[in-house]
Amino acid sequence: MTEADRLDTLLKETRTFMPSQAFKNQANFADPAIYEQAANDPEAYWAAQAENLTWFTKFTKTLEWNPPHAKWFSDGTLNATYNAVDRHREGIRKNKAAIIWEGEPGDSRVLTYDMLGREVDRAAHMLKSLGVGKGDRVAIYLPMIPELPIAMLACAKIGAIHTIVFAGFASTSLKDRILDADAKLLITADAGYRRGNIVPLKQNADEAVEGTNVEHVLVVTRVGEKANTTWHEKDVSWHDLMAKTPTTPFPAEPMNAEDILYILYTSGTTGKPKGIVHTTGGYLVGANTSMRSVFDIKDSDVYFCTADIGWVTGHTYIVYGPLSAGATTVMYEGAPDFPDRDRLFAIIEKYAVTILYTAPTSIRTFMKWGPSYIDQHDVSTLRLLGSVGEPINPEAWMWYHVHIGKEHCPIVDTWWQTETGCAMIAPLPGLMTTKPGSATRPVPGISVDVVDENGVSVGPGNGGYLVITKPWPSMLRTIWGDDERFKKTYFGKFEGIYLPGDGAHLDEDNYIWILGRIDDVINVSGHRIGTMEVESALVEHESVAEAAVIGRSHDVKGQAIAAFVTLREGIASSDELVKELKQFVSTKIGAMARPEEIYFTAELPKTRSAKIMRRLLRDIAEGRALGDTTTLADPSVVESLKQQYQEKES
Ligand code: PRX
Repeated sequence: MTEADRLDTLLKETRTFMPSQAFKNQANFADPAIYEQAANDPEAYWAAQAENLTWFTKFTKTLEWNPPHAKWFSDGTLNATYNAVDRHREGIRKNKAAIIWEGEPGDSRVLTYDMLGREVDRAAHMLKSLGVGKGDRVAIYLPMIPELPIAMLACAKIGAIHTIVFAGFASTSLKDRILDADAKLLITADAGYRRGNIVPLKQNADEAVEGTNVEHVLVVTRVGEKANTTWHEKDVSWHDLMAKTPTTPFPAEPMNAEDILYILYTSGTTGKPKGIVHTTGGYLVGANTSMRSVFDIKDSDVYFCTADIGWVTGHTYIVYGPLSAGATTVMYEGAPDFPDRDRLFAIIEKYAVTILYTAPTSIRTFMKWGPSYIDQHDVSTLRLLGSVGEPINPEAWMWYHVHIGKEHCPIVDTWWQTETGCAMIAPLPGLMTTKPGSATRPVPGISVDVVDENGVSVGPGNGGYLVITKPWPSMLRTIWGDDERFKKTYFGKFEGIYLPGDGAHLDEDNYIWILGRIDDVINVSGHRIGTMEVESALVEHESVAEAAVIGRSHDVKGQAIAAFVTLREGIASSDELVKELKQFVSTKIGAMARPEEIYFTAELPKTRSAKIMRRLLRDIAEGRALGDTTTLADPSVVESLKQQYQEKES
């Protein structure tokens, strides 16, 4: 399906789904007046929600807004780990499962709040013994094993800033992030499991720390002998050191609400990723509130988010959100098709999961595999479903509703970003009528609009730029080390108004339909990748003179990467070179950035002012009739590319 067809289908969608009376009756947020109350006084709404956290010193100021800089609850103090773990150890949840972990090979581990707390305290002592203190940056490059949340919670407990790097990233990407954050400690594992294979993390970590200020590399043993780990001088075994550390409780460091909790890198429109900065109080209020409102979390739930903690979804909705709400959160280490395609449904059955949060790309993969993998299992415990990461097409929404939700689970399609910290546009499942493909309306306390080029509201029935018009507690505070870029990227177009970089359509009922990115960012299987990052990687290859990268629509991944490459003088194109270049990008950035297709071209289509015409490239990659070509400097360039596309298709 081309991009145009996709939009066409989306905007013709008319089906609606009301929450059932049974769901309404039990919903945490059941009074529709909340929307209006929050809209009338968002600060009062957020101050009231903040009462759900435990503060060491109660805040008296809710918001200070000096656009584009916001401070929330700025005279309050608290600790994120105290809120996520320790406070639950003091009450009835002490022996409740906090994390249920399922390893890919079939091993599993349950950590109650008390057990988790003990592990975190030991890890906190361990970090201290390695000289890590408040404000220091700790890079974490771990697979989805329990030590990952334990490490992040230990950082938060002592006031260190964690920066987690998704374990699928290559060593260069890891190194860039370590350098940018100036981390003094790296926590990694010998290796990880993925689809039955062993992924050598330690090797990447070794390459990444060279020439950085990392003093120690703390190594978790996940795989053991088969990982063939080489130990270096800086390396310290997590397990050995844990065994030596005291088992005494570690007192939570009182943090100012505006102290940094973490930095998480995400792709932007330049080759350099942005270190998104989240602070403690506001972020936690956003994570905790949305857990209760959007995910309707209850003590009786078993909640399963299939994301990786290396992305923001995992930060907020595997760790800080569910744990701060005292919930049971399931984390799975591996691939959804290992050992077979029913793995996620087997996990749902095994742990009697009640809430499932996943991505449209996974749903489309399940569609392709067919419902038989679901039907092998009892998934009747599910009561609520969530979607995140990219626009969900109505067909996938309906399939999710029918085959996984068995037509009785509300679906919360949650639009948000690394920068927003928590879900911004999403239905409250007991209150909102949903429409397949629409994230519906902003959650209470969030003000969103769709505007034109001049910042004027387009009104119902029209499309434009999605904007967030008022500050919110879990908004990013800045870009680490680059406040100018923060101001320019997010607040440069419309003053005092946050620009997420997505296009949206507003329908007659004021429902929002997210149309996708409007900048040079691609969304591949819910992973955000900057076209410039891939281009920079490609031109580092000795055969490449110039490269242009675009996202083309893809039935399963949402978007796929197509690269247009001009080779250096005297280099001939070949199938081998295509393979080599794809692998090169994979090694430079990570497997998720591997181009789906590479087209060779003597020249890239450019305007007379030398701007690459990406729109034309997109038309070519999607096999469409070409749009306006009048500004093209050399029309023959496009002809030869079109021919290549047709040859590939035939
Ligand atoms: O384009 C939007 C898309 O993902 C982008 C944010 O990516 P990232 O920071 O990696 O965070 C992903 C998980 C929150 C957005 O700018 N996106 C995310 N959720 C949705 C979405 N697009 C449409 N519908 C969604 N529910």
